[in-house]
Amino acid sequence: MTEATPFAERLADLEGEALAALAAVETEDALEAWRVSYLGKNGRLTGELKGIGALTPAERPQAGARVNAIKAALETAHGARREVLKEAARSARRIAEAVDVTLPGRGRGVGTAHPLTRALARIEDIFAGLGFSVASGPEVEDEFHNFEALNIPAHHPARAMHDTFYLPDGRLLRTHTSTVQIRFMEVERPPFRIIAPGRVYRADAPDPTHSPIFHQVEGLAVGEGVHMGHLKATLSRFLEAFFERPLTVRLRPSYFPFTEPSAEVDIGCFLCQGQGCRVCKGTGFVEVLGCGLVHPRVLERVGIDSERFSGFAFGMGVERLVMLRDGVSDVRLFYENDLRFLASLR
Ligand code: PHE
Repeated sequence: MTEATPFAERLADLEGEALAALAAVETEDALEAWRVSYLGKNGRLTGELKGIGALTPAERPQAGARVNAIKAALETAHGARREVLKEAARSARRIAEAVDVTLPGRGRGVGTAHPLTRALARIEDIFAGLGFSVASGPEVEDEFHNFEALNIPAHHPARAMHDTFYLPDGRLLRTHTSTVQIRFMEVERPPFRIIAPGRVYRADAPDPTHSPIFHQVEGLAVGEGVHMGHLKATLSRFLEAFFERPLTVRLRPSYFPFTEPSAEVDIGCFLCQGQGCRVCKGTGFVEVLGCGLVHPRVLERVGIDSERFSGFAFGMGVERLVMLRDGVSDVRLFYENDLRFLASLR
């Protein structure tokens, strides 16, 4: 048997070892393991306490006091270490949860109406200033309103120019807003001035200048003595207001079944000042809309006396106008919802 370490010396070693081990504890689990191993029911200090019984009665009181003092010291040290670990955990959490106020904020973009919506609103405003009110009609139409009543009978070659979407029941998606001329005159009597903005459909393959869905604004003014001069003045006023600049406006003879005479309206190309460029294809003019005096047969069809009343009508493509005004080169951009495009138009 080896010489037993004197009790007091062993206790001093135990205390030193325990405190050193405690100083190395870094986690709550390790702290608990430390507590169990030194202060627990089967821990080393408790073991020493039990060993007191083996000492002589004279030694016992001092030994007991010594064990209790060490126990108290280790408990205090344990509590202090626990606080240190807790505080370390708290500050680690604070750092992890910290809000970095120097980070740039998340963008909060301001939305706007779609360029076509804005263009339609402007067009309506301009025509309101010229005394026109707004009318509308259905997008699903019948042949009568889209063709027949507009002097386009079945087998008329003009029907071939309207690549029409037909529904199984024989109805169709309107190919132009001229349908609203008929719808309006079926119920209203002259004099009146209206515009009819809306969506129209044509079975065209999409390309930079064609979209199967697009927008038109129809115009119709009927009264006594309405003539070409009224038409040209109205369109000149409108076009200069829409493009926000003085323009050369030219009426070029054309053909529509529902107007007589008919004309295409050209404006002097403002990109090249009429010199000739890519946009005007070297002609110095760009076509912006179709128009004419309402064909007497159209008036008679809806029961308006064509001897007494006359009128003018026009139809314009909204996408085309915006493309010219804002230099947009592909009509499909209006339907792709790419924010970079949408935000680029004022
Ligand atoms: N409806 C014709 C088109 O879509 C345009 C137009 C309207 C022409 C009114 C003359 C009068 O092409």
